[in-house]
Amino acid sequence: MKSITTVAQIILLFVLTPLFFSSCESEATTDTEDVAVVDVEAQIEALISQMTLEEKITMIHASSSFTSGGVERLGIPELVMSDGPHGVRHEHGRDWEKDLNVRDSSTYLPVGTALAATWNPELGYAFGSVLGSEANFRGKDVILGPGLNIIRSPLNGRNFEYLTEDPYLNAQMVVGYIKGVQDQGIAACAKHYVANNLEFEREKVNVEMSDRALHEIYLPGFKAAVQQGNVLTVMAAYNKFRGEYCAHNGFLLDDILKESFGFQGAVISDWNAVKGTMESVNVGMDLEMGTDLSMLGSGKELDYSKFHMGDTLITLVNTGVVDVAVIDEKVRRLLRVMFATNMFDERSPGAYNTKEHQQVARQIADEAIVLLKNDDKVLPLKKADIQTLAVVGANANRKHAGAGGSSQVKAYYEVTALEGLQNLAGESMTVNFSEGYQIKKDGGADAALIAEAVRNVAAADAAIYVGGWIHGYSDEWNDNALDAEATDKPDMNLPFGQDELIQALLKANPNTIIVLMGGGPVDMQAWKADAKGILQAWYPGMEGGNALASILFGLQSPSGKLPMTFPEKLSDSPAHKLAQFPVENLQMDYTDDIYVGYRYFDSYDVAPAFPFGHGLSYTTFSYEDLSIEKTGGLVTVSLKITNTGDMAGAEVVQLYVKDEDSTLKRPEKELKAFQKVLLQPGESKTIQLELKEDAFSYYDDTQNKWILEAGTFTLLAGSSSRDIRLEGQLDW
Ligand code: BGC
Repeated sequence: MKSITTVAQIILLFVLTPLFFSSCESEATTDTEDVAVVDVEAQIEALISQMTLEEKITMIHASSSFTSGGVERLGIPELVMSDGPHGVRHEHGRDWEKDLNVRDSSTYLPVGTALAATWNPELGYAFGSVLGSEANFRGKDVILGPGLNIIRSPLNGRNFEYLTEDPYLNAQMVVGYIKGVQDQGIAACAKHYVANNLEFEREKVNVEMSDRALHEIYLPGFKAAVQQGNVLTVMAAYNKFRGEYCAHNGFLLDDILKESFGFQGAVISDWNAVKGTMESVNVGMDLEMGTDLSMLGSGKELDYSKFHMGDTLITLVNTGVVDVAVIDEKVRRLLRVMFATNMFDERSPGAYNTKEHQQVARQIADEAIVLLKNDDKVLPLKKADIQTLAVVGANANRKHAGAGGSSQVKAYYEVTALEGLQNLAGESMTVNFSEGYQIKKDGGADAALIAEAVRNVAAADAAIYVGGWIHGYSDEWNDNALDAEATDKPDMNLPFGQDELIQALLKANPNTIIVLMGGGPVDMQAWKADAKGILQAWYPGMEGGNALASILFGLQSPSGKLPMTFPEKLSDSPAHKLAQFPVENLQMDYTDDIYVGYRYFDSYDVAPAFPFGHGLSYTTFSYEDLSIEKTGGLVTVSLKITNTGDMAGAEVVQLYVKDEDSTLKRPEKELKAFQKVLLQPGESKTIQLELKEDAFSYYDDTQNKWILEAGTFTLLAGSSSRDIRLEGQLDW
């Protein structure tokens, strides 16, 4: 198999450009870096002092669909932005017109949930490096990613773009991604700040939650993006938070992001998230993008000076209603982003659709695919035993890159599951494909297609089913039953009659392997007990088909782990059980509070279909010799892990903390460290995991601060949140 250490080699292939931009709580800078920061700040002030008010205002709103205004006279270029989280988006001209004559296909990386399923922060860095490098090549300055909203309900149409239900895993993956992008001299954009956890009426809905849920669940990813990733831009979300739009929200933008976290970069609005001039200009909203000009009655189409933070502000400043210092601060922050992205220096040329980039896409897919179930060791399949292989399911033959909303990618190529299996089969196996179901609006089970698929499976030596969700918006399929932006799923059921089809296939051959694509869980109750082999493949990117085939046939062992709980049924999910769903009167009260994902399932003793952190391997691992050492504020946990099987494989060792005597209620356990370890058969490694005080603290919203309470804590080390192998205790 490909070793996880090759990530380091891949990373070395990128040209690394150190940044001098730093936030207040970042790692210590050297004297030279300090001088550079001071120098840049001085240059920024010099530029601002030469700018007219009109020029300053030009900079704080869009100048086209994906650029903000520049000031040619002073050599200040436009800031060029591009989606999206898992590939540099195709060109769409300055004003959304289709730009057809450009080279704009790109490396299509696995989606966010797939990246998170690798539990490998080094791959987060490699992922970001590809995006940064291709953004450079395509003349972009800002990549509008990572998307790091917490996965709260399985129904969010955009979950596939995000990472996880867990704030710690979120933070770990996001920091690598951001550094990867920014080390290429491109700005990343942490989005969508904050609590945009459903697409339903996203521009109107108001979210209410406790301070505790905000600080423990929804903010840590953004805090890490700022303080550890030094992210240069943050995107304000569409929704309201505590009655105020996020883009107008002084509490979120000023008090938390800028003052408490120390964010020095620029806040960019989501496209059309700014709704008023005074509301946005007086809070930390720095750059207005995507405003729907037709709503403003500008008369003249696409006159960007008519934006809320456009020319209206000239009069407001001149009449003393708005202080020019407020505008200067926004310009200052945007200039910081420009200096940090080397817009005034010679830029790195970047690279485009290279073999190395494709290799990164492949490696992430290799490590992302999760083996959920493998009864009777039905996997891996053995090539020598198979002359005829049946492949069933429309998703096996479908390319996924080009849809889903703003994250869509015009892929340079995309190897489907069927192509991956055909590549692997070569001449030695006959691969027979049946569609099995049809992707179409309100499409149910199709008896003729099922019968044909059953014949195919019955006549073959082995059978693989590839189904699940799809992306897109079209009349061809259910408008609201997809992994796509601006829409949510109505339920967790497999669309297009797939339950019936899968049941029929399992009857024809009980060893049929079930592979599901999609951004998250589906209800598998109709057939889960009967299926011996089940895999979650997410949307695995341009090399996904090859990765899947190599795992199914045992060329490598799977090592992905679920970054979210898979519930048995939707009503088990805490957002649906403890909070109101569907949303009423555009009000969303997060009464599930801190009990998101496994924090709920474990504390309330609800059995999931597959737990958070779960993922099987073809080999086995033993855990031994847990030791806990506490020196001052640092706890070091070490344990020995051995590959006890006969195949190389990687295990994600997960460390959870349980507070035994807390004043406030705490979840049963919380993930606070993990490490992915690659081991050859028989090999052992002793690993060390470090926990600082924050790993034991909780946010006390009676005192409005994080506190570490004296008492006993249990440390739980295991292979998933429900497969704990070793335990130990310590006192604070
Ligand atoms: C999405 C953002 C995206 C922006 C620009 C919005 O609709 O919510 O994630 O970056 O469009 O395409």
